[in-house]
Amino acid sequence: DYTNLNSDEKKIKNLTKKLPHAIIIGVKKGGTRALLEFLRAHPNVRATGPEPHFFDKNYEKGLEWYRNLMPESDSSQLTIEKTPGYFITKDVPNRIYNMSSAVKLIIVVRDPVTRAISDFAQIASKSPKVHSSFEAMMFKDNITTVDTSRTLIKIGMYSKHLERWLDYFPLEQFHIVNGENLVTDPGTELIKIQEFLGLPIKITDKNFHFNQTRGFPCIRKKLNKRPHCLDETKGRKHPYINSESIQSLQAFFKPYNRKFSKIWTRLWLVVK
Ligand code: A3P
Repeated sequence: DYTNLNSDEKKIKNLTKKLPHAIIIGVKKGGTRALLEFLRAHPNVRATGPEPHFFDKNYEKGLEWYRNLMPESDSSQLTIEKTPGYFITKDVPNRIYNMSSAVKLIIVVRDPVTRAISDFAQIASKSPKVHSSFEAMMFKDNITTVDTSRTLIKIGMYSKHLERWLDYFPLEQFHIVNGENLVTDPGTELIKIQEFLGLPIKITDKNFHFNQTRGFPCIRKKLNKRPHCLDETKGRKHPYINSESIQSLQAFFKPYNRKFSKIWTRLWLVVK
């Protein structure tokens, strides 16, 4: 971390703010914060703190505004940001392409039904006045008709969004992270990402400590340091949802999941 250096020291190290080399573009509630915090532990990675929301909400502010949000880095370091809103926003692939056609794109996915429940739990915790039930938000008249006008539902149609991105970027430029594996086997997922980003492998399972109370892995930046866990807004308790509602949502997402895993398999073959 270079924040304590004075300007002369920064000059010597040739520290500059750079546009991102890689962006975690989604998905909301997939585990995007965990992934960014894990990558930040790598000495050759510099990452933004808050989500910049440049390509979806602040685009008119211009690239220099965006660059200015980036942390300073030396020439051995990659700059990374995460804004999960990018994945589902129509204009974003084109805008990112105009910044750099070579940028690497990372997507963390998770079972779309669990994702929707996680998103619902977040909405309910942020606005306690929302008394709407899960079913009222997800379905139209009865639980057989999923309400596709809901963002909560739209986000989970992963293949639809990815297809739009593929109009601009080749499959090799994407890396898809299994959000469930990121919890159960973060070391393996992190090795794959470091390989994808062309980084020396510095983060392995040794950097993780599974916190039994929280039910999540926490990261140790240095092996002799205390592990750092995400705050309590990550890993919320999910509400109980009855099995009929879950089954109906699973059936709805099934064709999208199938298509997505076909693309994923293709990507896997390309990488091999
Ligand atoms: P829940 O709160 O539903 O459990 P995002 O950062 O994209 O909003 O994703 C939040 C989700 O990250 C959490 O959803 C949690 O399941 C998941 N996650 C993955 N690894 C985690 C970790 N090490 N610590 C906390 N949450 C983690």
